[in-house]
Amino acid sequence: MTGAASGIGLGIATALAQAGAKVMLCDIEEDALAKAVKQLRLTNVDVDSVKADVSLKAELQAAAEATTARYGKVHILVNNAGVGGGGWTDASWTWTLGVNLMATVWGIEIFWRLIDQHGEGGHIVSTASIAGLVAGGNHAYEVSKYGVVALSESLRPELATRGIGVSVLCPGFVRTEIMTSGRNLPKRFEREKTFREVPTSGPIAERINWVRERVAGGVDPLYVGELVREGIENDWPYIFTELEFEPLVDKRFAAIKQGFDRIRGRTPKR
Ligand SMILES: NC(=O)c1ccc[n+]([C@@H]2O[C@H](COP(=O)([O-])OP(=O)(O)OC[C@H]3O[C@@H](n4cnc5c(N)ncnc54)[C@H](O)[C@@H]3O)[C@@H](O)[C@H]2O)c1
Repeated sequence: MTGAASGIGLGIATALAQAGAKVMLCDIEEDALAKAVKQLRLTNVDVDSVKADVSLKAELQAAAEATTARYGKVHILVNNAGVGGGGWTDASWTWTLGVNLMATVWGIEIFWRLIDQHGEGGHIVSTASIAGLVAGGNHAYEVSKYGVVALSESLRPELATRGIGVSVLCPGFVRTEIMTSGRNLPKRFEREKTFREVPTSGPIAERINWVRERVAGGVDPLYVGELVREGIENDWPYIFTELEFEPLVDKRFAAIKQGFDRIRGRTPKR
């Protein structure tokens, strides 16, 4: 379970640990990991942790090896680590797509075989966002989350034939540390000034402040964790956390349908 030391990840880890699962928490933040393990062991001694920057494939691979060394079989993978992203620079795109999307690609690539090889079935959950279904101005973040939705949808029928369920979690606002994602910006990107230059006034600053307030007033991460547990148990393709954004998804689908309507009745030239 990646990004397990904080926020939604810790909520999911808690819900799964309380349901009796053995949980290997993976995160880039060592201190937060140690604190999370200590807290979870109060109700389930079978939790452990491994540090990894999941945007580096070798570290994710090493985390998988540590997991099988510790617990033997893997049945559930939760690709949850994520960052809010920065501005429009190569480093920002690389960081955001690396953590949010490529770590999910590699997580599935590395872990599906581990789940498949014991033949007992299992489940893969990847955390996207409502921003994986509706775009609104945080470009790299939204591209990464649309990618997570697409990957989950395309793998679901394929892995169903192997007894592996695939769910995508699309939360609305959740009360987490997402607005300080920059705390985990890897050193290799630190020289890129865009991460430090968050505007303090103007429309971007207003939007960031609005998001910050919505996150602060968002739903409880443990509630999300319990929904995820239910989603795994019942093999839900999509796991949502609230109805607020349903009209925006409807609006997008209506705009897509309108695109088809515009060409209805025409005979395509071949
Ligand atoms: N909070 C929200 O409102 C919200 C809404 C929709 C989707 N999400 C998604 O939920 C997921 C979890 O975020 P959160 O809101 O709980 O934020 P958070 O910052 O509280 O938790 C994210 C966790 O990921 C870890 N992480 C970051 N970079 C990492 C890396 N390179 N390698 C390993 N671990 C790394 C962090 O240390 C942290 O523990 C993310 O994918 C995020 O995009 C959050």
